[in-house]
Amino acid sequence: MDAAGLAPRGVERARVPGPVTGVEPGPGGGVVRFARSELRVRVTTGGAVFWGWDGAEPDPSYALVSGSPEADPRAVLEPDKEGGWRVVSERATVVVSRHGAVELRTPGGLMLRRDLPPRWWEPVGGGAARWLQRSQVAADARFFGLGGRAQGPRLRTGTYRLWNTDPGGSFGPGDGPLYITMPVQLVVADVGSHLVFHDNTWDGTVVVREGEEGAGSGHDRAGSCEVRMDGGPLRCWVMVGTPARVLHTWASLTGPPALPPAWALGHHHARWGFGGEQEVRRIVAGYRERGLPLDAVHLDIDHYEEHQVFTVDKETYPHLPQLADELLKDGVRLVSIVDPAVKAEPGNEVYDSGRATDAFVRDASGRTVHGVVWPGRAVYPDFTDARVRTWWGGLYKERLAQGFAGFWHDMNEPVSFAAFGEPTLPRSARHALEGRGGDHREAHNVYGLAMARAGYEGLRELHPQERPFLFSRSGWAGMQRYGGTWSGDVATGWPGLRASLSLVLGLGLCGVPYSGPDVGGFDGSPSPELYLRWFQLGSYLPLFRTHAALRAGRREPWEFGPDVLEHARVALVERRRLLPYFVTLAHLARRTGTPYVRPLWWGCPEDRALRDCEDAFLLGDCLLVAPVFEPGAVRRTVRLPPGRWYDTATGQAYEGPARVLLEAPLSRIPVLARAGAVLPVRGADGGIELEVWAPAPGRTGGGLVVRDAGDGWEQPEIERFTARWIGGRVVVERDGRAAEDAGEAAGEVGLRVTVRGIPQGQM
Ligand code: GLC
Repeated sequence: MDAAGLAPRGVERARVPGPVTGVEPGPGGGVVRFARSELRVRVTTGGAVFWGWDGAEPDPSYALVSGSPEADPRAVLEPDKEGGWRVVSERATVVVSRHGAVELRTPGGLMLRRDLPPRWWEPVGGGAARWLQRSQVAADARFFGLGGRAQGPRLRTGTYRLWNTDPGGSFGPGDGPLYITMPVQLVVADVGSHLVFHDNTWDGTVVVREGEEGAGSGHDRAGSCEVRMDGGPLRCWVMVGTPARVLHTWASLTGPPALPPAWALGHHHARWGFGGEQEVRRIVAGYRERGLPLDAVHLDIDHYEEHQVFTVDKETYPHLPQLADELLKDGVRLVSIVDPAVKAEPGNEVYDSGRATDAFVRDASGRTVHGVVWPGRAVYPDFTDARVRTWWGGLYKERLAQGFAGFWHDMNEPVSFAAFGEPTLPRSARHALEGRGGDHREAHNVYGLAMARAGYEGLRELHPQERPFLFSRSGWAGMQRYGGTWSGDVATGWPGLRASLSLVLGLGLCGVPYSGPDVGGFDGSPSPELYLRWFQLGSYLPLFRTHAALRAGRREPWEFGPDVLEHARVALVERRRLLPYFVTLAHLARRTGTPYVRPLWWGCPEDRALRDCEDAFLLGDCLLVAPVFEPGAVRRTVRLPPGRWYDTATGQAYEGPARVLLEAPLSRIPVLARAGAVLPVRGADGGIELEVWAPAPGRTGGGLVVRDAGDGWEQPEIERFTARWIGGRVVVERDGRAAEDAGEAAGEVGLRVTVRGIPQGQM
């Protein structure tokens, strides 16, 4: 199909910008003209800087939430030395050399990134130009991001492809690309942090080379990176500042993360092949009878009739709405998988209505493109067409009527099982691309993003009073607007456990804060110890879900012996106790773009040892979680960021920065609390209480509590608390009202307060 539908590239001509010929000042910067190209630089009011070659503008874009922010009128183009030009702004300076190198500098003039003049290859006979952009960063810089990467979170020297891919089996740390790729790099160095986003959806690769310091010899080798794209515009956005500021700017540009309903921050249990309603009831009862909290059950592709989405297999699920009602009485929601491919069979309602809407992707000659997925021969909705999104969004009505409360988008890279070549649509397949028209080379990477939009907008129409809950296997920059993701089919094994955390951390740094792995791994059967360690890690990640493949071993907590059951219960109960904290983190992610799960260097990116630390993470401002990744390990070293940290199990205080050895018995993984932390937790009566960790002597602490006003759109209540030492006691204050407490009901604060971390004798 591609041989017929895509013109051969033929002879190509290379091009570089050539010497500067003039400038044209404009809002926020202007245009610098070169002999063979031009560069537009625009500083925007949010602090993000745009630059685009060859006339590229910020729009159209799949990433931006509402086009380009306003240009900052204070930023102007002015002459620089040696015939170059520069734009000075509050947070960054952009210097353009007379041959088209572009330097990004801190306000103090230090170099963050230097882009060499780009290079294009244009087919002489016309067609998309390929391009290459080489950049240099500091020798000490570390790269993060590029979407969900099993190899990370630190992206070491290597080649990373930008093409959303189902690895076609379970993946481990060496595999890539995976389901979500994004041309988003977060670069962290001593001189500062910046995020760069090449707004281009085409197939590409990024070659990362970490730099090397000359150990005092003066011979540093700079870090470098090459972005190569097969077509599409050469344009980028850069953001400079602390990690928190950079992510905030990124979320302002690409949209605030969707807020999951509170139940979605609990525990989910999924399985491919429950086999029917009775088995679902048995599992839910299994959780209930053992006193294990459960919030959602996910039905996979097997609950559909012949695997066709928006149907029900009546033999195994004869009374789905009743089942949903029954589970809801126990506080358990049903979540439905939704795959994009539609069984190509006249008489199938979804197929017939899609045909009537002209919804399916066609080839260059106008014939509908067919692929093969779970339902067999199938066709693919073109989600890059607003009309098709509206049609698809309407189909969720059937799901809501069956009683489903949430949606799990899958196979949307999109997948077509292939005997050879790539397991997706042909590159020549045509897409609407919002009316511009184009082919799959440009539409592929945003297929999952556009499907998420269709689902999200459909659900908002159908159920306006509730926030949609949706998570999607594939996606692209901006997908957080519609929901989260999960780590896909991670291989069962200790390496897969590590990869699970890498994906969550990396995606968070790309602006997608809600994700988590298949606890226990997707395939095979984990050992009881591996299952438990995975369960313990998962219980501190935003999406906490057990799931497994059709023929994989069981994943219920009681299937691994009484010890594992007991320890899993502790993790589940603690997750439920921390629910108010997770809800607060979800709201903060929405307001600020800061992910719930952050690398240890989040607050001190200048600490090089922390930058390289990949085996622990911060959960919000208050907690540090150190999972166990090694079989047999019952203690582990943990690198602490600066400040005092308490082991929450023992109450023992440690002073960071330091490396400490902590006990990690099978019953728990080490979790530390930051001194001064004020943590909202769920009390025995279900109400919110405060757990306060004593500030270090002479210091104060504090925290935020955001109370969810239900599953709708009401504005939440935000409360601010401080904790300080007064007269030898820890006093917690809200809005200036003080309450001194060590365990009793706290009158003035209005919440029960428990202070921890006070040495014996000082209480
Ligand atoms: C894919 C999904 C997996 C799901 C399976 C069957 O492999 O990643 O989560 O269980 O398809 O639908």
